[in-house]
Amino acid sequence: MNLDPTSTQVAQFRDLIVERLGLQFDETKLGNLARVLALHAGGDSAAFIARLAAAPAPCEALHRLAVDLTVTETYFYRNIEQIRAFAEVALPACWQAREGLPVRVLSAGCASGEEPYTLAITAREAGPLGAGSVEIRAVDANPAMLAKAARARYSAWSLREVSPAMRARWFSGEGELYALNDSVRRSVRFDQRNLAQDDDELWAPGSYDIVFCRNVLMYFSPAQAQAAVARIAGALAPGGYLFMGHAETLRGLSHDFHLCHTHATFYYRRKLYAGQAPLPADFNQPPWNGVQTRPVLFDDPAWVDVIARAAQRIDTLAVAAPRAGAMPSAPAQADLHHALTCLHNEQFEQSLALIDKLPQQHADDPDVLLLKAISLSQSGALATAQNVCHQLLARDELNAGAQYVLALCHEEGGDSGAALAHYRSAAYLDPGFALARLHIGLLERRMGDAEAARRDLAQALILLQHEEASRLLLFGGGFPRSALVGLCRAELAALGAAP
Ligand SMILES: C[S@@+](CC[C@H](N)C(=O)[O-])C[C@H]1O[C@@H](n2cnc3c(N)ncnc32)[C@H](O)[C@@H]1O
Repeated sequence: MNLDPTSTQVAQFRDLIVERLGLQFDETKLGNLARVLALHAGGDSAAFIARLAAAPAPCEALHRLAVDLTVTETYFYRNIEQIRAFAEVALPACWQAREGLPVRVLSAGCASGEEPYTLAITAREAGPLGAGSVEIRAVDANPAMLAKAARARYSAWSLREVSPAMRARWFSGEGELYALNDSVRRSVRFDQRNLAQDDDELWAPGSYDIVFCRNVLMYFSPAQAQAAVARIAGALAPGGYLFMGHAETLRGLSHDFHLCHTHATFYYRRKLYAGQAPLPADFNQPPWNGVQTRPVLFDDPAWVDVIARAAQRIDTLAVAAPRAGAMPSAPAQADLHHALTCLHNEQFEQSLALIDKLPQQHADDPDVLLLKAISLSQSGALATAQNVCHQLLARDELNAGAQYVLALCHEEGGDSGAALAHYRSAAYLDPGFALARLHIGLLERRMGDAEAARRDLAQALILLQHEEASRLLLFGGGFPRSALVGLCRAELAALGAAP
């Protein structure tokens, strides 16, 4: 009997774990996976893998594996901006929509309970309607975490973001630990459930008004994350809210949601089902007008006066037309290619004329719309460029490029506040978007927020060194990578930060 699993067995085990729990392990984690396999297999990895593969989806062995394979870091009031958005936007909107019925909240991947208990406390603190106005359900695949959640005893470290006053209101000391108030504890229903599996009861259509699924899908394979988001979308009432982790986006995962941006954070709102009355136009506007920052105007013109010269991606579209069903005819390809060349040569009118000549089905392609928006903004037609961006966002609401071009237009127009909001949307939707991060840092510096500027410029510097050449060409305002890196370093040096 061989105690150490072979590399083939570890690979089989990895595939089974992606299939059963959604969790994806890259090459650097294989050593850990091999240790877990050896521990659970008790000396016969082949037999263990065969038993696991043959077992029904929820089985004891899988539950035990979840204890050792999941990342369970959490704490009360994690990402407090989202908790504020929950209290000040999502809850009031849902209370109104539910017309007196309790608002139904799901914490999916709740770990040891800090997240759903935070929501329960927040609802009590925020709500004029009392404890019965919210029903909170919390699920996780890890039984050890659920047992800890049921005990509701927490360390000071778990409460590190909780103010002393809140601590006094909702917890009582028990030796080294803090015991959560009993009525809050009882108000959350915990269940062992697997987000990577179909589950008719958990995902019954329209079951929830607000779902928190934070810092869970980042550990899933893309396919499993996409499937989990589709389940959440089906189970959310139309107009309901989804909160993900601050480093997680739905870009590339779903088209079922609108992006919301308030309280310096991002979250999503479930689109309406076909045939329903639309959401009010201002659904994404904060209801607390008084505290919105006013745009700041600067004498110094915006750094960016042009955006793009060329796009390898659009070039590819022009030459190879990779999108199924959108294969441009030979003349359309030639026109697109020509339009790109004109953009290269700063002949914006010619470029726009060529794009406008394209047959309708290609003219509506998101990449072509982006090329058009860039050409328009470069030619100074800012209002039309913004219209095209909105057209593009109507087709692909999570398009980071459209957010970026909108930001440039606002910056050109002197509205730094709006520009910053759109740059932040672009950087959130695409965390690797170096130029969006660079602009955020530059604007923050001009607005006098040196600490934030240092942080964002330092991040931009790292991202710029890895940014795809095609995106630098498209969005880099004609500046090569070396110039952008140099600018970033100079700005950091001026801020007293050693780049
Ligand atoms: C990092 S914690 C996040 C906790 C909390 N949502 C937060 O943001 O603070 C991730 C949790 O997701 C759970 N999880 C991972 N895969 C899961 C699955 N397939 N089904 C249900 N829960 C899962 C883990 O057990 C873990 O408790």
